[in-house]
Amino acid sequence: GKDGYRHYMEKELHEHPVVIGQTLQRLIDPATRRVVMPDLPFDLAAVQRVVLTACGSAFYAGMIGRYWIEQYARLPVDIDVASEMRYRNPPLTRGGLGLLISQSGETADTLAALRGMREAGQHIVSVLNVEQSTMARESDAVLGTVAGPEISVASTKAFTAQLSVLACLTIALGRARGLIGPAQEESMVTNLLDLPSKATEVFERHDEIRRMATIVADARDVLYLGRGAMFPVALEGALKLKEITYIHAEAYAAGEMKHGPISLIDNTVPVVATVPSGPLFEKTLSNLQEARARGGRLLVFTDMAGAPRLREIAECVVAIPTVDEFVAPILQTIPVQILAYEVALLKGTDVDQPRNLAKSVTVE
Ligand code: M6R
Repeated sequence: GKDGYRHYMEKELHEHPVVIGQTLQRLIDPATRRVVMPDLPFDLAAVQRVVLTACGSAFYAGMIGRYWIEQYARLPVDIDVASEMRYRNPPLTRGGLGLLISQSGETADTLAALRGMREAGQHIVSVLNVEQSTMARESDAVLGTVAGPEISVASTKAFTAQLSVLACLTIALGRARGLIGPAQEESMVTNLLDLPSKATEVFERHDEIRRMATIVADARDVLYLGRGAMFPVALEGALKLKEITYIHAEAYAAGEMKHGPISLIDNTVPVVATVPSGPLFEKTLSNLQEARARGGRLLVFTDMAGAPRLREIAECVVAIPTVDEFVAPILQTIPVQILAYEVALLKGTDVDQPRNLAKSVTVE
């Protein structure tokens, strides 16, 4: 049941901290602060390329995985949505890593892409929530997300669980390739293990998120922005808003704004940006100043360290705990999903069963 929550989505949002913790527990030895991968039928150190695919929110989790794998394991990652990947027939060298991400393990396009990758000689590793699924049976290895059943059509907790797994896989790849030493591994693992308590603190920002929601609920169009690993967070926020509120939302990499979408901006199009402190902070801030100069109303998600600067220009600022750049996308996803939920409440839509959508897309 809903355990006293109004919707499954609300309940599942509140499960983020627990689900992140449970998922990490499977892949981390807390005593040694090291990642422990299940036995794989191939050598991670021998992998020269990754080809990654998924649909919807799982695809956005994969985009964050690409940033991590490229940055920390220095492995090239080709990524595309599964509906494209399955027909692209990309040239793949045998012995690469084929990485699939799916909550259900039954998504038709992702399954077809998996079969294509297998035929092209890739080692198939799937990040799955339903471990007794078709994709699980057809994979060389399954990395389980321990999110429990996700009932709401809009995915929430499965997403942060997928990121938790991808973060551990990144560490394992970086270590296998000799790029992440014991000290760095310990610090990355510590940052991950701190996430459940930090995620709980995000819910203390509920009132500010609700205030943001009143502005978004009145809009016809909303622009979401982010840079680097926050770009997929923006995509996830825009998808969630579209799915459950039927408000049109677009997400852009903040640096792309001046190549087109900035022409949309006036005081009727709120700009929702995810801008935690870190190496891309100043760059994103200047993109926001450009939007502000055109009358854009800035609604910003950041962390405690980034908040003071953003309060000077933004109408609403939601500041969550400051964490290391590596794990920031996991934490920053949570308030963005809560925003969509709060807007849906104001709109009175059918939150758990949005029109035209199915939980699992098993036909093409
Ligand atoms: O079961 P899967 O993870 O393969 O599903 C993929 C997408 O259909 C799914 O993430 C969809 O985009 C959600 N409704 C997003 O909230």
